[in-house]
Amino acid sequence: MRPVLELGCNLGDVTHVTEILEVKRQKLMATSPLIEFRNVNFAYGTRPILKGVDMSISRGQVIAIMGGSGSGKTTLLRLIGGEIRPLVGSVSVAGQVVHELGRNELFKLRRKMGMLFQFGALFTDLSVFDNVAFQMREHTNLPESMIRDLVLMKLHAVGLRGAQHLMPAQLSGGMARRVALARSIALDPMLMMFDEPFTGLDPISLSVIGSLIRRLTDTLGMTSIMVTHDIQESLRIVDYVYFLADGVIAAHGTPDEVRASKVPFVHQFVHGEIDGPVPFHYQAQAYSQDLGIGVGSNA
Ligand SMILES: Nc1ncnc2c1ncn2[C@@H]1O[C@H](COP(=O)(O)OP(=O)(O)OP(=O)(O)O)[C@@H](O)[C@H]1O
Ligand SMILES: [Mg+2]
Repeated sequence: MRPVLELGCNLGDVTHVTEILEVKRQKLMATSPLIEFRNVNFAYGTRPILKGVDMSISRGQVIAIMGGSGSGKTTLLRLIGGEIRPLVGSVSVAGQVVHELGRNELFKLRRKMGMLFQFGALFTDLSVFDNVAFQMREHTNLPESMIRDLVLMKLHAVGLRGAQHLMPAQLSGGMARRVALARSIALDPMLMMFDEPFTGLDPISLSVIGSLIRRLTDTLGMTSIMVTHDIQESLRIVDYVYFLADGVIAAHGTPDEVRASKVPFVHQFVHGEIDGPVPFHYQAQAYSQDLGIGVGSNA
């Protein structure tokens, strides 16, 4: 805005235009979610996993997806990436229905997505620098001098510019996770997906990664979805939480709404209670039957 003023524009005009643009931007943000799940049903073989998931994720947000083990959280991410397709319903990313895309279009879309998995291993025989540079060298024609600047910028963003010459074996777990984060944002994705980004980290590294996810999302203009079991860290950094249970979104809300929730399922999560709607035991036949005792047994 300042350069326009220096060219002699009327301040009132500029303010007016800025206001119009802001209203337009907000309208766009409000009207077009980046990701939309509409009545998504999915099964692995005959085993239903998702039974009508509806979810809408706005641009610029950091979202947490929570739910018991095996509830289908990773499956949701795989649907967004187009690795698998819904049986019924649709998943849209930036206005495109993922399962309707052709091979080339899907690859193009995937290029705009970054993924960081819990054990998102680094290439062990490449230095930190080369790990981050890898995708830039593979997918762009940028000259090496520019790649160098970009790699250093990404490493700087995660606080590890000084570790550029180290090999993965020389990194702590927390540092390796940060390098993996720098690598996943190498191509400036519009969407980042994190699958359990905090697992195995000490409390300090954990909150460093959490803060980085928030900060990078804001400064790079991304949208981030993270699947995590860490409710306290999530509530600290996210805009919105979705809880997945029994194949549907069982609850959702802002961190404040989640903290205050009386929904038993959400309460159990927030307070880490063993007993509640989320069962401790995986579905099984009667214990007596497994042990071969009781009525009808051959014991
Ligand atoms: N490729 C597959 N083939 C068959 N079943 C699968 C496959 N992948 C996952 N499943 C099953 O689908 C269910 C949902 O899996 P998913 O990985 O999405 O769960 P999750 O919520 O990410 O669990 P966790 O928190 O343990 O990572 C699980 O019961 C799992 O056993
Ligand atoms: Mg998972």
